[in-house]
Amino acid sequence: VESGYHAWLSYNKALPGAQLEQYRQWGGAIVSLEEQETIQAAAAELKLGLEAMLGHSVSAAPNQGQLHIALGTFDSLHVRYQSLFSEKEIEAAEAEGFVIRTSHADSCLAIGAASPAGVLYGVFHLLRLIGTGAAIDELAIISAPVNGLRMINHWDNFDGSIERGYAGNSFLYKNNRFTEDQERLRDYARMMASVGINAIAINNVNVHQEETLFITPTYLPQVAKLADIFRVYGIRLYLSINFASPIQIGGLETADPLELDVQGWWNNKASEIYAAIPDFGGFLVKADSENRPGPFTYGRDHAEGANMLAEALLPHGGIVIWRCFVYNCKQDWRDRKTDRARAAYDHFKPLDGRFNDNVVLQIKNGPLDFQVREPVSPLFGALEHTNQLIEFQITQEYTGQQRHLCYLVPQWKEILEFNTYAEGEKAPVKRVVDGSLWGNRINGMAAVTNVGEDWNWSGHLLAQANLYGYGRLAWNPDLTAEQIASEWIQLVFSLDAAIHDVISGLLMDSWSIYESYTAPLGIGWMVNPNHHYGPNVDGYEYSPWGTYHFADHKGIGVDRTVQTGTGYSAQYMGANAEVYNSLEHCPDELLLFFHHVPYTHVLHSGKTVIQHIYDNHFEGVERAAQLLSAWSSLQGRIKEELYSQVEERLREQARHAEEWRDQINTYFWRKSGIEDKHHRKIY
Ligand code: GCU
Repeated sequence: VESGYHAWLSYNKALPGAQLEQYRQWGGAIVSLEEQETIQAAAAELKLGLEAMLGHSVSAAPNQGQLHIALGTFDSLHVRYQSLFSEKEIEAAEAEGFVIRTSHADSCLAIGAASPAGVLYGVFHLLRLIGTGAAIDELAIISAPVNGLRMINHWDNFDGSIERGYAGNSFLYKNNRFTEDQERLRDYARMMASVGINAIAINNVNVHQEETLFITPTYLPQVAKLADIFRVYGIRLYLSINFASPIQIGGLETADPLELDVQGWWNNKASEIYAAIPDFGGFLVKADSENRPGPFTYGRDHAEGANMLAEALLPHGGIVIWRCFVYNCKQDWRDRKTDRARAAYDHFKPLDGRFNDNVVLQIKNGPLDFQVREPVSPLFGALEHTNQLIEFQITQEYTGQQRHLCYLVPQWKEILEFNTYAEGEKAPVKRVVDGSLWGNRINGMAAVTNVGEDWNWSGHLLAQANLYGYGRLAWNPDLTAEQIASEWIQLVFSLDAAIHDVISGLLMDSWSIYESYTAPLGIGWMVNPNHHYGPNVDGYEYSPWGTYHFADHKGIGVDRTVQTGTGYSAQYMGANAEVYNSLEHCPDELLLFFHHVPYTHVLHSGKTVIQHIYDNHFEGVERAAQLLSAWSSLQGRIKEELYSQVEERLREQARHAEEWRDQINTYFWRKSGIEDKHHRKIY
């Protein structure tokens, strides 16, 4: 059944148009001469895609002079086609990139790369070109990934549940067993490879009892089988580990990173893991965070904790990915001095330069926790001597849980373009993250994925665009959100321009719509505790989590200024520190993140804060309803099963947006006693 399972690898039949003749000419035969498994997989994928899109069968042996597609590593292609690729091209493709070139002299459209994974990426790129209707007659493309690590984090638990999962249960595990559905795993690996993902951590960062055993003989053989599937598609497997493993499964009395016994235990453990999985990627670690064990128990710091694991992995080429999501989750809400937003910087800035070369810090994009709107984490730009990754959240924990539409690529783009002022004017986050600013050996992006066993992978079909977009952006952060949306729409739905424009409009407006009826002016957390779905203005106001808005009858917002607040604004560099600290210059969308103001404070927009809240919530609901009506215009023009599943979710969103509007507006009307200028219905 076509219900979204094949996602952007649906290989819909090409429209009979200008390019179809070209595709047929070049795509009649494939030459692939290498036995290597990744290259074989690439050739199989190309055949599958071409046959589906072009509706003809593809041969493996072109006739004399017949146009064809050749794929392989540079060395192997060179034997048959002597002068296809120049030295310059080969160099520019780097280790993981590819070159695609049409050579009429050789009757050949060639996909070459230094590595088998590069060949695979090149094949997926060619399939994407055809799937989006591009000309292929005169190709000369060189593409290399900008980021080294392009990683997916699963928050899947062994019992089959997924922490913050909104697309059904796990397809990796069920009832404390590894899945036996190899085909689904392979399809997943294909999908991930097609957008350039090269690293996957397969278990939740909160490592519970059974998952702690993943690094023991009980489960290692099964982890290794999963790694075998990923390997074919150029993906390395990583595990989240429990810092207290030496106690929990090793029979030791301590997990102190400076104890020789503990170090020895991890060294042996690493050897054992690499005996089972020779290309094992390494460990992902959540330590001293939200009640997880860590080095603090022993009076050690995070550099000592991370380096101990790094030493164990070093001889095998593995790395430690150490998360910076460290803060006090048992705060007293009466305490106005402690500011959770400060925590990551306060913990990790002093450790800059102390981490081993095979440690990389994983930093959430914002200082709090994946809210609809937050400033960029001030740690980006502050760690000159430390490898670092940015962590995004594809799963929509605070952005509508895949019941609401929220295309996140525009948000990620904004974050990646944000100038940190670390090295003056030209130090955007993307250049910190890709390692180019300071020459970090390990660099890139990680993201918590949004997939589950739902047949369309992501629950909300349109949420697939976030998964697709994350991979594309990790490969090349300079792609625009519009370009990425266009590719995805064309590959999944149709090349029809009118259909494309409707869906693109929906995606591109969706973040702003979701923000407008949920979280005003940079205030987050107005959600129901625990599951985080739906409005609850005071849901986290008197909690220990450090997540407050401080609304009273006069005003709202968190004072994070240097003069009268928590001083968080001073963690930024250059103009950022001044702009955020200034009531006058702080951008409207982050005003309440940095300042506590009266409801009558006038924004740059000319509106008062309270009128902005009312207007945005009324407009947000109207705009959510427009998403539904725009989508309705597609009925009968796209496949019914795709149409109807999205319609159902957009209908729920429109209804639920009203609940948001009414709760938020009513709350602030009752608190402030200030009437809506337009006298709309508030309860
Ligand atoms: C959020 C999320 C948790 C998760 C944590 C993390 O707080 O709600 O479920 O464990 O982030 O990133 O570790």
